Amino acid sequence: MRLRNVKNAFNIIEENRDICIDDPTLYKGNWKSLSSKDNNSKIYLEVGCGKGKFLNSMAKENTDILFIGIEMMSSVICRAITKVKESKTPNVKLLNKDCEHILDYFSLHEIDKIFINFPDPWPKARHEKRRLTSPRFLDKYKIILKEDGIIRLKTDNYDLYNYSLETIIPLLKDGYKYGEVDYNIPIVETEFETKFRMNGNPIYYIEGSFK
Ligand SMILES: C[S@@+](CC[C@H](N)C(=O)[O-])C[C@H]1O[C@@H](n2cnc3c(N)ncnc32)[C@H](O)[C@@H]1O
Repeated sequence: MRLRNVKNAFNIIEENRDICIDDPTLYKGNWKSLSSKDNNSKIYLEVGCGKGKFLNSMAKENTDILFIGIEMMSSVICRAITKVKESKTPNVKLLNKDCEHILDYFSLHEIDKIFINFPDPWPKARHEKRRLTSPRFLDKYKIILKEDGIIRLKTDNYDLYNYSLETIIPLLKDGYKYGEVDYNIPIVETEFETKFRMNGNPIYYIEGSFK
C-alpha cells in the first residue's frame, strides 16, 4: 500500500475512536456498556469483518444487538469505519486487531454469536494455523461464546469447508447444520458473498453450538 494510503487509513482510524476502539482490553467483560440499549442486549462478533458491509447492514436491521467486528488490516477496516460513520449506525464497534488475541478482549461467555464469513482459506498446509477455523481459534471462540451461543462459518472454498467440517463438527452439540446455503430465504450478504455468488460459486455453511 502507498504511504499516502497508509496515512489516510491511520487518520480515519484515529479520528473515529468512538467506532474503532483503541484498547479493547478496557471493555473485556463490559462490552454491553457500549450498547445504546439495555443490559440484556446481545453481542454478535464477526471475525475478519473486512469492509464491514455485513456488520453494518445486520446492525441496521437488529438495533437491539451490539455488533463487533475484528479486522487486522488497517487499509480495510478504515472502509468499514467510513460505512458505519456515514450511515450513523450506533450499534457497531470495530477493532483493528488480530483475532489471535480475542481472549484479551472478551471474557468467558460474553458473546452470543460468532460469524466467520468467507475467511482467507490459507491453502498451504504450513499456514493451517492461520485459518480462522483451525483448532487454536476454535478453542478461543468456545471460551468467549455463551453456552448455547452460535458459531457460523460461510465459505465458497470447498477445501476450507471440508477442513472446517473436520475441525468444527466434532466440537458441536447435536442439532448442528451444514451444507450449501439456501438463497431462497432472504439474508444479509457479505461483500465477498455477493462477489462469489455473482461468479456462480456455490456457498457452504456450518452452524451450531459448542458442546
Ligand atoms: C476474504 S475477507 C472476508 C471479509 C468479509 N468477512 C466478507 O465476507 O466480505 C477476510 C478478511 O479477514 C481478515 N483476517 C484474516 N485473518 C485475520 C485475523 N487473524 N484477525 C483479523 N482479521 C483477519 C483479512 O484481513 C480479510 O479482510
